[in-house]
Amino acid sequence: MNIGNDLSIENLTKSFGRQKVLKGISFKVPEGETVVVIGGSGQGKSVLLKHIMRLLVSDSGDILVGGQPIMNLSSSDMDQVRMRMGMVFQEAALFDSMSLRENVAFPLRMHSGLREKEIIRIAEETLERVGLKGVGEKMPSEVSGGMKKRVGIARAIAMKPGILLYDEPTTGLDPVLSSAIDELILKMRSDLGVTSLVISHDMKSTFRIADKIIFLYQGVIQASGTPEEIQASEDPVVRQFISGDTAGPISVI
Ligand SMILES: Nc1ncnc2c1ncn2[C@@H]1O[C@H](COP(=O)(O)OP(=O)(O)OP(=O)(O)O)[C@@H](O)[C@H]1O
Ligand SMILES: [Mg+2]
Repeated sequence: MNIGNDLSIENLTKSFGRQKVLKGISFKVPEGETVVVIGGSGQGKSVLLKHIMRLLVSDSGDILVGGQPIMNLSSSDMDQVRMRMGMVFQEAALFDSMSLRENVAFPLRMHSGLREKEIIRIAEETLERVGLKGVGEKMPSEVSGGMKKRVGIARAIAMKPGILLYDEPTTGLDPVLSSAIDELILKMRSDLGVTSLVISHDMKSTFRIADKIIFLYQGVIQASGTPEEIQASEDPVVRQFISGDTAGPISVI
C-alpha cells in the first residue's frame, strides 16, 4: 500500500452506552501540517485520537489516512497503516525495565527487521535528535519527566513515521520544558516534514505550534481556525476556555 500522510476525519460518531461522546466530527490534517485539538476534560479528545490508531472503532463515519478509509481494513492492512504513524502517549508510557536506548530500539526490534548494530545506531541517533545524546544507558526511573517525554517522542519517530500523534505532550511540565517540547514538535515538522495531530489543553503551547486549531465541545467542533482566528474568536465558550475563567457558559463541576 502506497499512501500519503494526510489525515481526514469524516463525520465521526461514537457513543459509550447512552453517552454520546463524538456527535459527527469532521476535519482534515493536510500533509506536513500541525493541527491541535483542544477542549476541556472529558470532551472526547483521547477518544478521537484512539480512533485514528483504530484502537476504537467508530459507530459511524471514518478516518482516512492518505485517502485510505481505515475502519473496515483487515488487521494486517491496518498494521501497515499503524507503521506509518507514531504515537506519543500522555505519560510517555516507557517500559520501566528497559534503558532509554532500549525503549527507543523497541519498535525497530519489533518491526524493522534490521540488524542489531543498525538498530543501536538508529536508537542513538534518534536520542540525539531529541537532545538526549549519551544518556541511552540510563533507566526511565533515573531521569526527569521532561526527559521521559523526549524519549517517548524519540520512540515514536524511530521508525520515521509520516504522521505523529501526540496526546497532551506538555501537560505536567514546567514552562521551560514545555517550550522545549514545543520546539521539538516544530523541529519534527521542519526536519522530517511530518504531519502532526496534537491533543492539548495548554493554550500557550497550542498557539506556538498550531497551523490550525480545532476546539471540541460537547461532542462537536465548536470552533476551528488559525491561532489568530481562535484568539480573535468572540464565541463565549472559546473565550472562556482560552482565558481559563470560571465564570461563563462552560460549567465547572
Ligand atoms: N472505553 C470507554 N468506555 C466508556 N466510556 C469511555 C471510554 N473511553 C472514554 N470514555 C468516556 O468518553 C468521554 C471522553 O473521554 P476522553 O478520554 O476522550 O476525554 P478527554 O477529552 O481526552 O479528557 P482529558 O482532557 O481529561 O484527557 C469521557 O466521559 C469518558 O468517560
Ligand atoms: Mg485525554
